This record gives sequence, structure tokens and C-alpha cells, in this order.
Amino acid sequence: MKSFTVLLFLISYFGCVQGLYRPVVLWHGMGDTCCGEESMVKVQQVIKDLLPGIYTYSIMLGDDESQDKKLGYFGNVNDQVEQVCQTLKNDENLKDGFNAIGFSQGGQFLRAYVQRCNDPPIHNLITFGSQHSGVSDIPGCSNNDGLCKLMRTIARRGAYSNYVRSHIIQAQYYKDPQHLDTYLQQNIFLPDINNELDNKNETYKENLKSLNKLVLIRFTEDITVIPKDSAWFSFYNSEGELLTLHQQPIYTEDWIGLKDLDENGKLEFKDCEGTHMQIPLEYLQEEIVIPYLSLDIGDDINSNLYDNIFERVRKELGLNIQE
Ligand SMILES: *[C@@H]1O[C@H](CO)[C@@H](O)[C@H](O)[C@H]1NC(C)=O
Repeated sequence: MKSFTVLLFLISYFGCVQGLYRPVVLWHGMGDTCCGEESMVKVQQVIKDLLPGIYTYSIMLGDDESQDKKLGYFGNVNDQVEQVCQTLKNDENLKDGFNAIGFSQGGQFLRAYVQRCNDPPIHNLITFGSQHSGVSDIPGCSNNDGLCKLMRTIARRGAYSNYVRSHIIQAQYYKDPQHLDTYLQQNIFLPDINNELDNKNETYKENLKSLNKLVLIRFTEDITVIPKDSAWFSFYNSEGELLTLHQQPIYTEDWIGLKDLDENGKLEFKDCEGTHMQIPLEYLQEEIVIPYLSLDIGDDINSNLYDNIFERVRKELGLNIQE
């Protein structure tokens, strides 16, 4: 991987000199927090090691880390997205736009940010194992997660009961393929952002279309998200068959701009080997940070990465690099 090393060096060197990487915003998943040493802190460290000087921000709801965790289970996603819209708008470091990575449910929530607010705008949106088409079962809990078990206990009272649908986050992206009518009438979040209702919101489509890239990552061995292919917008029809994005009206009738993104080469489907949210360090570095977060040095690098970087280093620093 010699060329990779050279490339890393050039990218880091150039970025350091220029300090011009787009900032990166993260939205953590269910059961996680803004600030876990082994999760969001680590991800930010990996990004900063490769892209020195970059500004990163990990979304926190509530006043502290423990509230942030609770709010991943209990609350109203529409209100949470609105709060995040305010927080990001008030962050001076983000004013020129940013890239974003959503982990698990954080992925569809960041998509809602794009569709509803997008001010400042997201450039590349990357989502890891997200539930873009919902889940057909409330997600399972790890053994030691009491909050998660409480969430499941309450959710079992019925995902569409008044209380549950407005207080349990996971119910707000639960979609029972056997009861689509109930889902459309009662779910307060997912049918809206997927423009599944009769009144389609054109702003949602315009905003999502404005992304430079939408990168959808599926975990190959995911058993937490059912179906795991929801990460790619696949979902079951009422007969229980799994339909791909391309087989559904959200795409064919382009309800939210996915078809437009796809036809312009801006929609990417990727697989990450492994179980839900087990992201190898190298995957993060080589498949995400370098291709999607490092190329924003100025706005005009897009064709040949090597040529552009060599050219710029030469020009900016007066170096004479032999290729
Ligand atoms: C569509 O979404 C935008 C952004 O959230 C909102 O301002 C607008 O009121 C919505 N339009 C309709 C008809 O609901």
C-alpha cells in the first residue's frame, strides 16, 4: 500500500497547510452517546489523525451524556431533529457547510436534517447501518442495557398506541409490512420523511437532491436491524418479499430525490463486512475518511485525485515533485 501512504501524506500535508477540510458532524446510534471513548471519540480521533486541523462535532441531545443516551430511546424525533437544526445553525464552525456521518438511527435522523433544514448544508452524507426504510421489528438489546429493555417493554404495548408513538424513538421508524395503513396514519416520523403520504413535500426532495454524495453502508452480518437491507432503502412488501430500492415507488416516482441522485452518480451502496456497528478501523480510514472527507480541499477537486493534489502542492508550495 505504498501509494496509499504517499497519498495520505500529501492529503494530510496539504490539508494542514490549508486548514480547509470541510468540518464533519456525527450522529451516534441507539444505546450510544455523543462521547463514548470507544465510539464517537474514537471516530473523531481517526478523522483528526488523517486530516489534521479538521473541525468535528458529535451531536449531543440534552444537557449531558447520560441524558443524551436516554434521548436515543425516549422522546420525539421530530423535536430532536428540530433541536439539532438549531444547534448546527448556531455553530460558527459549520457555517460554510459540512460532511456528516450518521450511525444506525443517527443516519435517518441526519437525512431528516437535510430534508427539513439543511442550513448550513451537508455536502456528503454517509450512513452506517441506518434504518432508512424502517424496521419490521423493534431492535433487540444488549444484555446490560436497562434503558433499551425498558424501551422494548413499553414498545410492546403497541408501536402505534398514542403514548408509544410519541414517546419511543424506535416506534417512530417501526414499519409493520402487514399493517401499512396503520403505519401511514399513525407513525409520526418515517412516512413523513420518506414522502409516503399523499401530500409530498417538494422541499424534502430538493434538499436531498442537493447532496454531493449519499453513501449508504450496509453491515453484511447485521442481525440488529431487520431487515439489514433497510440501510439500502430495501423493505418488505405485504407478501414478505424484500424489495430493493429500485423496485419501490419512493424511487420509481422519485418521492425524495433518490432517483435523481442515483442518475447523477451521487448515490452509493456499500457493504461493510461484519455485524451491526462493528466498523473496522481500516474501513473507516480507507473507505470513508479518504474518499469522502478528505477531498474537499477547495471545491474543484473531483477528477483525478493524484493529479490535482500534485498540481496543487506544486503550485501552493513551490515544490518540485517528480511523479
Ligand atoms: C415542507 O418541509 C419544509 C421544511 O421542513 C417546511 O418548511 C414546509 O412547511 C413543508 N411543507 C409542507 C406543505 O408541509
